[in-house]
Amino acid sequence: MSQSVDASNRFHLRGNFAPVAEEITATDLEVEGSIPPELRGAYYRNGPNPATGTSAHWFVGDGMVHGIRLEEGRAAWYRNRWVRTRYISEGEGNVGLVDEQGRVDFTAARANTHIVCHAGRLLALVESSFPTELSRDLDTVGSFDFDGRLKTSMTAHPKFCPTTGEMHFFGCTFAPPFLTYHVADADGKLVHSEEIPVRGPTMIHDFALTASRAVFMDLPVVFSPESLGEGMPYAWSDDYGARVGVMPRGGPAADLRWFEVEPCYVFHPVNAYDAGDEVVMEVARYPELWRASSHDFGTATLHRWRFDLASGRVSEEPLDDRGIEFPRVDPRCETLQHRYAWTVGFRSVSGDPSLSSLVRYDLQTGTAVEHDGGPGRAAGEPVFVPASPDAAEDEGWVLALVYDQGADRSELVILDAARFDASPVATVKLPRRVPFGFHGSWVSDPS
Ligand SMILES: [Fe+2]
Repeated sequence: MSQSVDASNRFHLRGNFAPVAEEITATDLEVEGSIPPELRGAYYRNGPNPATGTSAHWFVGDGMVHGIRLEEGRAAWYRNRWVRTRYISEGEGNVGLVDEQGRVDFTAARANTHIVCHAGRLLALVESSFPTELSRDLDTVGSFDFDGRLKTSMTAHPKFCPTTGEMHFFGCTFAPPFLTYHVADADGKLVHSEEIPVRGPTMIHDFALTASRAVFMDLPVVFSPESLGEGMPYAWSDDYGARVGVMPRGGPAADLRWFEVEPCYVFHPVNAYDAGDEVVMEVARYPELWRASSHDFGTATLHRWRFDLASGRVSEEPLDDRGIEFPRVDPRCETLQHRYAWTVGFRSVSGDPSLSSLVRYDLQTGTAVEHDGGPGRAAGEPVFVPASPDAAEDEGWVLALVYDQGADRSELVILDAARFDASPVATVKLPRRVPFGFHGSWVSDPS
């Protein structure tokens, strides 16, 4: 991606969006409150942090992972490390997106969007490329292609089935095949890959999985090389249309059925599940995205889609009018009906970060509880950790990084999921600010 665009005045290089310059390690961190001793593992969060100090767009900075290790009621360490992809090891100008044969080179990775753990491998993800494997201490192991089986990029949003342990994901690129569906088994072996027909090179960031179906969003933000001057080669299209495809989980794609929906864009579904003949899917929905500029995000709100496989009808229902993003559910509920969803609440991703809070939705009662950390504080993606394998859906903790504008420092807050508007159970004081980023995971120690 070109670094020659003058992006110096863009929001993603200012304030707490701006990158940090050093990798540091700190041990035995200061803690307010009491860290639940059940939390034994590490919270990892990925986000863009351009090594050169600048990038053309928020989405194209080099990945940096911030990790906080919790054990025996203490915060044992914090460390941040760049994902040392080829852009860093070989130099910014020495890595091309296309190899000598003219094929997309999926080892060219920014690895800046998510970090997940499957079959014991910790993987930093970006949707344009192969995963990059990291050690638990955040050293970069290298590009990972499922022992040569993966022939496409990998989304940053794989779905994990709590019943089978499978990881379902897709690859989406600007060159044919535009969309490919993949399944890795519980042992991490890639066991299924199948092309999904879409109308063109659309930007598909995420998808959904139920106990019986996979759901793909074919929405009108499409490849647009002339938009590269704005930093991202994608733009809104009034002509592309908007539809959602529902197909049997694991294939075949020949049985995929498309449902036309109102034009919109969705980066992130909340979750999806089967309900009789219907697939129910909740999403953070933007009425449109990147019409004039890929630096303007607008506001997403919580919506519910219902796809009726018997009648072929789809219904769309707004559930709330507050701005949200980064929705998550209890990982034990992924693919199944959830009651609670946890999100960031804010008016605009490029607006005043002091406006962001955390929201707990109760989809059964249709209510929401907001955790507002106070003025000048901005929360990132909430991650729910159950108190035990058989704990109730709100019995556990919600972990999130919070930036304190006044102190110019960040904290890891640990909230009681059932008493969401109460003060944090524990606050881990980090030795530095953590730039606003994208997604993360709690990785428990093996029990
Ligand atoms: Fe995402």
